[in-house]
Amino acid sequence: MPEMHLPTERLLIRPWRHEEADRLLDILGRLEVVRWLGDGEPVVMKDLDEAHARIDRYAERDAPPLGTWAVERQADGLVVGTVLLLTLPNAEHGEVEIGWHLHPDSWGHGYASEAAAAVLAHGFAGGLPEVIAVSHTDNWPSQAVMRRIGMEDRGTVEKWYEGESACFAITAEQWAAAQASNSA
Ligand SMILES: CC(C)(COP(=O)(O)OP(=O)(O)OC[C@H]1O[C@@H](n2cnc3c(N)ncnc32)[C@H](O)[C@@H]1OP(=O)(O)O)[C@@H](O)C(=O)NCCC(=O)NCCS
Repeated sequence: MPEMHLPTERLLIRPWRHEEADRLLDILGRLEVVRWLGDGEPVVMKDLDEAHARIDRYAERDAPPLGTWAVERQADGLVVGTVLLLTLPNAEHGEVEIGWHLHPDSWGHGYASEAAAAVLAHGFAGGLPEVIAVSHTDNWPSQAVMRRIGMEDRGTVEKWYEGESACFAITAEQWAAAQASNSA
């Protein structure tokens, strides 16, 4: 099965590499990043061993088009963060979520939205009927990404993760209609 290799205007979405474990640690070792991930107490990554183990986990094959990938800036090869398409925890109907987390040195450039839009296209090309995004209810930067890539606000939900989450979604039909109107 070919590895993910998805170029965008400024970025390349591809697997994380073990030689980048220090960069992954520098992202997931920051409370300002991990405080927004998951639903329990934030888990700050502690050392390179954990980063290598995480890279191995990311590389374990989810059934395509799902996966967890590095987002590389083409201009200088810097990995700005991670983007993912995964089955939601406790999904009753195989619902798939899109997610993103970037190093703070790479916030504010539109990279998360650029990578997420490409991964959304990848997911729909791979046959997903709908993609969901959930965040802490007060994660405004992440919800702004959801809006920028055309996702619809579905309000607050109490499923998949503990407690309340903001939920956005886009169906394959909505995505195709948006592509058609963008190219018209
Ligand atoms: C969520 C997160 C990825 C958002 O990153 P971001 O850089 O704000 O998001 P975008 O890629 O959409 O970039 C938008 C920003 O870039 C700016 N920008 C600069 N150049 C741009 C360009 N060419 N295109 C688009 N936006 C651009 C926008 O004006 C906007 O800045 P603003 O927020 O000051 O208005 C980031 O805050 C993060 O990693 N947070 C911690 C982890 C997290 O919360 N993950 C999500 C869990 S649900």
